[in-house]
Amino acid sequence: MSAKIISGTEIARVVREELNERVAILARSAVLPGLATVMVGDDPASRLYVGMKNRAAAEAGIHSRQLTLPATADQDDLLETIAALNADDAIHGILVQLPLPRQMDASRVLLAIDPSKDVDGFHPTNLGRLATGDVDVLAPCTPKGVMEMLARSGVDPAGKRAVVVGRSNIVGKPMALLLLNANATISVAHRRTVDLGALTRTAEILVVAVGRPKTIVADMVKPGATVVDVGTNRVDDPSRERGYRVVGDVDFEAVSEVASAITPVPGGVGPMTIAMLLANTVESALRRARKRW
Ligand code: GUN
Repeated sequence: MSAKIISGTEIARVVREELNERVAILARSAVLPGLATVMVGDDPASRLYVGMKNRAAAEAGIHSRQLTLPATADQDDLLETIAALNADDAIHGILVQLPLPRQMDASRVLLAIDPSKDVDGFHPTNLGRLATGDVDVLAPCTPKGVMEMLARSGVDPAGKRAVVVGRSNIVGKPMALLLLNANATISVAHRRTVDLGALTRTAEILVVAVGRPKTIVADMVKPGATVVDVGTNRVDDPSRERGYRVVGDVDFEAVSEVASAITPVPGGVGPMTIAMLLANTVESALRRARKRW
């Protein structure tokens, strides 16, 4: 069997087109959605990601403000910045790029963001609402993007066995909650899981987010499964101009022969994460306009 490729690039393009319409509706009420991105220090990967997010916001007609604090900033500087953005009516979404420098406590910083402007969905209030099955919550962008990919590919999680590999607060845990809220029967695998393959072979929907190439190989996949690869890993490749290529956590070629549908890397979940950040920002602006905060 050769699996159907679920193109995140294509689905994200459609989602972003639909968002343009919502932004146009808001413009008629003189509302301009605003996103603030906050970065501390000058980590090259973070700079790249934040740059991509701001560019995407501009393309969607979202006003974006990029704030960069020096690597030596202390936590109070960052908390003051967040407090100012919480109080700023032009800003509907606040994103603090992770990881933060060592002198900062990320959980305290995330707690300072107004939950109604938490477009990353990382605030404990929003994660708690997700855990109670609240469908209106601002959900974390990557797992929300995976749900959108499944929905738009005709894969309904209801009644299916879903296995999530990885238990991070950013992807694995909220992914499991979203699948559970969509009535899947879920399992979460992690570093200490015994016989990972035995568990993943039970999955009709398999989502992998661990950050290690070839974590999932062909004999770990149930024939006909839908496989979603959240990983982005650089592997050396002297044949490429840059000297590396980007691969996911799944052995794509081999697993494609077993699965019925699979997301590629690159061009899979990545573009969806950004599309969902824009969607959350527009949603937050709409709620503000309707005074539903
Ligand atoms: N660092 C890695 N992924 C993310 C993300 O989705 N949001 C933020 N804020 N930081 C990240």
